[in-house]
Amino acid sequence: MLEIRQVTRRFGQNTAVRDVELEIEQGQMVGVIGRSGAGKSTLLRMINRLIDPSEGSITFHGKEVSALRGAELRRWQRDCAMIFQQFNLVPRLDVLTNVLLGRLNHRSTVLNLMNMFTREERIRAIAALERLDIAQTALQRAGTLSGGQQQRVAIARALMQEPKVILADEPIASLDPLNAKVVMDSLADINAREGITVITNLHTLDTARAYCNRIVGMAKGAVVFDGPPEALTSEAVRTIYGGEEGAELSEAITSTSINVPAPQPARKSTGQAQPALAAV
Ligand SMILES: Nc1ncnc2c1ncn2[C@@H]1O[C@H](COP(=O)(O)OP(=O)(O)OP(=O)(O)O)[C@@H](O)[C@H]1O
Ligand SMILES: [Mg+2]
Repeated sequence: MLEIRQVTRRFGQNTAVRDVELEIEQGQMVGVIGRSGAGKSTLLRMINRLIDPSEGSITFHGKEVSALRGAELRRWQRDCAMIFQQFNLVPRLDVLTNVLLGRLNHRSTVLNLMNMFTREERIRAIAALERLDIAQTALQRAGTLSGGQQQRVAIARALMQEPKVILADEPIASLDPLNAKVVMDSLADINAREGITVITNLHTLDTARAYCNRIVGMAKGAVVFDGPPEALTSEAVRTIYGGEEGAELSEAITSTSINVPAPQPARKSTGQAQPALAAV
């Protein structure tokens, strides 16, 4: 069980997340919705410890996440895999190596320095790619794949971490409707079959309704709705997104079908240092 108690995060004068109180049982599929700037990403990033709360506590099975250091922190970041809107693959490495990178926190530093993956790890990586139906791309450079394929690679990499929780920050916001469906179906399948808790920020209501058994609505940093999709009445939707009584909500908020895909990430070299991994 993941427990978020009275969590607040401030950036200077701005309170991004305000007194958030959530208990998330293992195996739930939770959709977090809300306007841009509502605090959705900040909340996910605090769970994963990419940033720390200003106040409050986050515990997983009773253990204080914000107190973890060193090896324990790495173990936690392995237990909760993160999936991003822009995939965050290493574009110049092949797909298989990108998936194998999900194992890094499972291994000793020595093995990592030697760039060695075991045969078993490689078999598992291929199996993960097969599950996402993209095994045929294994030897292609990740940067040459379409957005939908790249997000499936990112999910395969997350699976290699053998996580207990998957945190997905707008995983389908850069994808066309067909790829969005493939990615959400994969997350739902992983949730149902492995019992991995999935917490995902979503821009559109219909996706949250279709895939999540619990919806958390945020507005101005606070949780203003928490319940099953059936409880998400139009009044609740107005509380989350704002707007006048009786006013029509923008289709862009409620439906993916007309989403204009965001520009794909640049595929050119970023100039960043790449992990020195030998061919697998
Ligand atoms: N690193 C940061 N430094 C300063 N302010 C930040 C930082 N990260 C987030 N904020 C602010 O915190 C608030 C919440 O941002 P956050 O990214 O969590 O919103 P969001 O709900 O994920 O929005 P979106 O739907 O646009 O992704 C915003 O006002 C944002 O400007
Ligand atoms: Mg965000």
